[in-house]
Amino acid sequence: MIYTFFYQIGASLLRNIGGEIGKNLRKIFYKIAGAKIGKGVKIYENIFIYRPYNLEIGNWTSIGAGAIISSRKKIKIGKNVGIGPHASIYDNDHKMPLGPREEDMIDSPIEINDGVWIGTHAIILKGVKIGKNATIGAGSVVNKDVPENAVVCGNPARIIKYNKESRNDK
Ligand SMILES: CC(C)(COP(=O)(O)OP(=O)(O)OC[C@H]1O[C@@H](n2cnc3c(N)ncnc32)[C@H](O)[C@@H]1OP(=O)(O)O)[C@@H](O)C(=O)NCCC(=O)NCCS
Repeated sequence: MIYTFFYQIGASLLRNIGGEIGKNLRKIFYKIAGAKIGKGVKIYENIFIYRPYNLEIGNWTSIGAGAIISSRKKIKIGKNVGIGPHASIYDNDHKMPLGPREEDMIDSPIEINDGVWIGTHAIILKGVKIGKNATIGAGSVVNKDVPENAVVCGNPARIIKYNKESRNDK
C-alpha cells in the first residue's frame, strides 16, 4: 500500500523528464522500486512499468518512449536489447469472465534474450520466449516463441526471414 503510493507518485513525477537527466533519474528510481537494471540501460520518456520488482533488464538495453511493461510474474530482458517506442510487453491475461477482482489474472513469464530488437508498437504476450538477435517487426503481435535470429512480423507474428549477422557474438 505505502509502496504503491510512493511508486505511483515517483513514476508520475519522473515520467516526462527529458534528456540524459530523465533517463538517469528513471533508472535510479526503478532500481529503488525493485527492478534489476544493468549498466548503460536507457529508459526514455513516458514509459509505464507495472510491478518493477518482477523485471530484469540487462546491460546496454534501451526502452523506447511510451513503452508499457507489465510484469506480474517475471519479465527478463537480456543485454543490448532495443525496445521500440510504444511497444507493449504483458506477462498476463485476465481470467474470463471478468469479475470485480482485478487480481484474477493468468500470469506466465516472458524472456527476451540478448540482442533482440522489438519494433515500435509491437506487442509481446505472456509466456513468450524470444531468442537471441531476433527482430520483431513494427506493430507485430507475438504470442508464440521466436527462434534465435528470426525476423517475425504481423498479427500473429510469423517468421519472414532470419538475421545473418550477430554483433553480440563478436
Ligand atoms: C521487420 C523489419 C525490420 C523488416 O524490414 P526489412 O528487412 O527491410 O523487410 P522488408 O521491408 O523487405 O519486408 C519483407 C516482408 O515483410 C513484410 N513486413 C515488413 N515489416 C512488416 C511489419 N512490421 N508488419 C507486417 N509485415 C511486415 C513486408 O511487407 C514484406 O512482405 P512481402 O514480401 O509480402 O512484400 C521492418 O519492416 C520493421 O518493422 N522495422 C521496425 C521499424 C521500427 O520500429 N523503427 C523504430 C526504431 S526503434
